[in-house]
Parts: sequence; C-alpha cells; structure tokens
Amino acid sequence: MTGDDRPIGVFDSGVGGLTVLRAIRERLPDEPTVYVGDLLHFPYGPRFQSEVRTFSFDIIRYLQSRDVKMVVIACNTATAAALNQAREVFDLPLIGVIGPGAQAAVESTRKGLVGVISTEGTALSQEYLHAIKELDPMVGVYQKACPELVEIVESGDADTPRAERALERDLAEIARMGADVLVLGCTHYPLLKPAIERVYPGAFQLVDSAQTTAGMVERRLDHARMRASDGAQPRHELLVTAVPDRFNEVADILFGEKVPEIREINLWD
Ligand code: DGL
Repeated sequence: MTGDDRPIGVFDSGVGGLTVLRAIRERLPDEPTVYVGDLLHFPYGPRFQSEVRTFSFDIIRYLQSRDVKMVVIACNTATAAALNQAREVFDLPLIGVIGPGAQAAVESTRKGLVGVISTEGTALSQEYLHAIKELDPMVGVYQKACPELVEIVESGDADTPRAERALERDLAEIARMGADVLVLGCTHYPLLKPAIERVYPGAFQLVDSAQTTAGMVERRLDHARMRASDGAQPRHELLVTAVPDRFNEVADILFGEKVPEIREINLWD
C-alpha cells in the first residue's frame, strides 16, 4: 500500500531525545525520520523558557522546510516551553512528550499520587502538573527538579553507585509522600531505571516518556492516515547544531547502540 512517505521530524536539546527516536523507530520501522539535536544550546534545562521557545520555533521551522509530516518535540524542557505556543503558530501536527507521560501516569496510579522528576525548566513550567490535573484533578502530583541526573547519565554513570546516591536523595520526598508512579520527565532518565529499582525496589511504577510518546505518534499517524508505505526502506537523518567533545561516546550511551553517521547543520548564522 502506498502511504505518506514524508519523514517524521524529531528534535531535542541534544542527544537525550535519541531515547525517543529509538522508541519511535522500533515501533514504526517503516517511517523515515529527521532528528535535530540542538547541541549548540545544550542544556535547555537551566535556560529561560523564552529562550528555549525561540530555539524550538527555529528548529520546527527548519523541519517544516524539510517537508516533515509531523514534529515530535522529544525534549521535556522544550515541550514545556514551546508546545502550546507552537500549536498556535505552525500548521502541522506537533507532539510533545509531556501529554503522553501524564496520561500514562494517570492511568497507572492506584493511590492517586504521582511523582515527576525533570529538569528545572520543566519543573518551573508546571506543565506536568497541569497535564495530569487536566486528566484527573484528584491525582496528587509531587515534582522535583533533578539537574544533576542529566550530567550523571551523560558521564556514563547511570548504572553506578553515584547515580544511586543522587537518586536516594532526589526521590526521598516523593517516596515519603507515598507516590506509586514516577514519571521520568526528562529524556535522559530512562537510563536510570535499574538504579531506581535498586534504591527504591518496587516503590514506583516508572513512566518512560520515550515509550508513551512513540505510542502517541503511532496513534496520530493511524488516525490521520499518514503511515508510510508498507515495507519502505526508510531514510534516517541525524543532524546536530554543534559537535561537542565526547559526542560519540554520549550519543552511544543514550541511543543504546552505535549512533549512525551525523551531519552538522547551521540554523543560526
Ligand atoms: N532534553 C532535556 C529534557 O528532556 C534534558 C537535557 C537538557 O537540559 O537539555 O528535559
């Protein structure tokens, strides 16, 4: 069957969104993708929302110029800062990572208590709180910004005692409040799952926004009849706005395997 063979655009502040890209590619193997990692401005977490919004709009504009059929904002911080306004400005389907994660959290909690860990930017925006309360106002939400965890993952320490010490500290309050679901509200955190299980065994059901977002992308494509042709040989492009030291090492950690070839693009002269 012939379908819509335009690529899906995916972007993030850097290589963290590769966790989301990977989940999309696993679930939708026929779909071509164009990924942009804004390593020139990484990290987005500590930046002003207005700044993150400007970068995000520029990247969406670029992806639009590449004739994508949909844009997935794979970054929680960028979703928090830009998704709502972007929907007013751009005439193309936009999917963020917060809505799918919030929905999975509300569906999973038995006690009606959800913890959310994220960057400072995401926590300050309160977007997870709003998204969860919109779905079920009775669910209690405990948010915690955990900026150190991004650095721990990028250093390759996600599965080490260093990560365990940070998690023990960062999750203590959420565990004490009795939350039974923990939203991993940052691209990097899915890699911390084994350490979380060791420090707080069986305490939380973990919501991984990479998986929930890939599910949402699939539903939207089906709903809009925008799936690529069956058995297509999809092309995948990995673009970055800068190539910092240790790029390959960090990208391999987050992608979970060797990252395919990347190309540097210049969006801001
Ligand atoms: N990608 C970001 C997020 O999901 C984490 C890294 C950053 O601060 O840019 O929030």
